[in-house]
Amino acid sequence: MKDKLFLMIPGPTPVPESVLQATAKHPIGHRSSEFSSILKEVYADLKWFFQTQNDVYIFTASGTGAMDAALSNILNPNDKVLSLVMGNFGERWAKIAKTRGAEVETIDVPWGNAINPDTLKERLAKDVNKEIKVVTLTHNETSTGVMNDIETLCKIIKEHGALSVVDGVTSVGAVPVKTDEWGIDILVSGSQKGFMIPPGLSFLSCSQRAFEAYKNCKYPSFYFDFAAHKKSLEQDTTPFTPNVNLIFGLHKAFEMLKSEGLDAIHARHAKLAKGIRAAIRALGLKLLVEDDAIASRAITSILPPDGVSVPQIRSTLTKDYDIVVANGQGQFKDKIFRIGHLGFVSERDAITAIGALEATLLKLGYNFDSGSGISALIKSLAETKVTA
Ligand SMILES: Cc1ncc(COP(=O)(O)O)c(C=O)c1O
Repeated sequence: MKDKLFLMIPGPTPVPESVLQATAKHPIGHRSSEFSSILKEVYADLKWFFQTQNDVYIFTASGTGAMDAALSNILNPNDKVLSLVMGNFGERWAKIAKTRGAEVETIDVPWGNAINPDTLKERLAKDVNKEIKVVTLTHNETSTGVMNDIETLCKIIKEHGALSVVDGVTSVGAVPVKTDEWGIDILVSGSQKGFMIPPGLSFLSCSQRAFEAYKNCKYPSFYFDFAAHKKSLEQDTTPFTPNVNLIFGLHKAFEMLKSEGLDAIHARHAKLAKGIRAAIRALGLKLLVEDDAIASRAITSILPPDGVSVPQIRSTLTKDYDIVVANGQGQFKDKIFRIGHLGFVSERDAITAIGALEATLLKLGYNFDSGSGISALIKSLAETKVTA
């Protein structure tokens, strides 16, 4: 039905009506005092959302832009980078590092698994001369729906002395990411995820240590230059023309997020993820990530039942029920489908999605006890008193 489409993909995520309206205003001059006072608040709110006292820069770019910014400001040719890879986005860090002429080593785990902290510890222990300068990690690997134990991994990296560069694109706003407490040097995220606004902005928090590495970077990026962003941030502005309207939207979204509160936001994500996982199991479907301890709170990856294909499920959900879920990526294309429950997502949305999934499976001939998914979901939602 026209205008009814609902996104349950891991980004872009749904945008609240009031945020959309905020973005629909006439732009104002980005050097005006009116805009500066909005930016001042947004910069402060970003620190709150990133749980940091570090500067958080704003880039007019998607999440990959912030990833590029991270490495292009701290790496010199031949620097050694260790990339922890467990999916598409972990691979992306390694690819970006190579474009900077870095020597890149990877620790690869099969997609669907998390990084074992002991493996990292062992590798870093062998680096007695402290040659590894940067370790890149993905908090929530969106391509598989696996969440890494970033707290433990970053503490190991800190003990070694390398810089930790973390992709928090689909974890910030879904789960606690304690940037300062966990010693994360660089953390990046993107607007179309837990921030509840459309795509087009990305964010990067930079520790003092990362900024020192920037000072030694021979060829830092021009557009993403850390010093230019730092200087502008201190003057409540941006180095170049930002997407003014998205910043209006972000300002409004932060109003909503702050009134909900960080703990409540994280608890909502945990509750939805738990309920959806219970529903999938009750339907007799297989979760790609069976272990609840490493399961994403932003996205759930599911294998289709025998005799039913991922494209069939996705197209029926969209055509008949106006719900968009994501395909798998890379080696999991057409092997899994992924239900996003990140950002502006409520219990109603989860109930609708599982109901529509049941209706879809019924139409596609899968033999199951209809209503079992919904029943498991609503029971889980009713019973779950989660803290993040
Ligand atoms: C974990 C992760 N990292 C990076 C990205 C890339 O972000 P973008 O598509 O905004 O460039 C995504 C996008 O989905 C993601 O999920």
